[in-house]
Amino acid sequence: MNEGSVDSVTVPDIFTEPPGDPDTLANLGPLRALAGVWRGVKGADQHPVAEGTEPDAFVEHYDAQPIDFQTNGPQLFYGLRYRTHIVKPGEVAMFHEQVGFWLWEPDTNTVILTLAIPRGQVALAAGTCDPDATAFEVRAERGSTTYGIASNPFLERNFTTTDFRMTVSANPDGTWTYDENTRLVLPDRPEPFDHTDRNTLHLVDPPTPNPLARAASNGSTTTDGSLLIGDLRPIPEETL
Ligand code: HEM
Repeated sequence: MNEGSVDSVTVPDIFTEPPGDPDTLANLGPLRALAGVWRGVKGADQHPVAEGTEPDAFVEHYDAQPIDFQTNGPQLFYGLRYRTHIVKPGEVAMFHEQVGFWLWEPDTNTVILTLAIPRGQVALAAGTCDPDATAFEVRAERGSTTYGIASNPFLERNFTTTDFRMTVSANPDGTWTYDENTRLVLPDRPEPFDHTDRNTLHLVDPPTPNPLARAASNGSTTTDGSLLIGDLRPIPEETL
């Protein structure tokens, strides 16, 4: 081997991308049940307050739309971009808001949730299940450099978030339910606090197909799924 060159026998290929299917909605595995615009009026929350615990009801608007397939070299994801906006019944002010992506990796049967909330806190949670599973769980743990939790210094000191778990169930009537626990350690309490949230979401509008799927149905993609119109990739000369 020449000095400075990469030994192609021992070094795995981390750059070659697999082909993806333009139709994300057909490749979401268990996440297909979450695609669309949803509303849930019977949310239940339990969060810490100075006196102990406060339960609250909430109303939720959840929007999860398919994105074009994403690769990391050989790794291939199909996913949804989501935003959830939560208020107390009859109120306008945000009670909770969360944005991120739901990702499905068919090769490893893995679900990944990227979660960001405007408290200055993010988490990356994951779990595995069969592609046709109607229930799955994702988890994140403080301290992990893979599926972990990162908090701003105030939260890290006073509301130390040690783990996050969320189960999702697709119900036979087309709704879906989540049940989650954000475990917090507070300086004034001997026991960890289980900050729990659950809701059932009802479909308001079906999902909008992702850009590549829309282009494919108009016949305006190349065979590798890339767009010819509005795409940032160079257009092959022979197709011009
Ligand atoms: C439906 C979902 C959720 C709702 C409705 C909700 C609501 C709330 C409420 C009302 C508080 C008390 C806030 C305050 O008095 O300032 C709180 C505290 C907190 N939440 Fe959530 N939350 C949800 C999910 C989450 C998730 C997913 C995480 C993180 C993974 C999280 C992290 C925290 C933390 C760290 C606190 C303590 C900070 C504080 O009380 O100032 N929450 N949450």
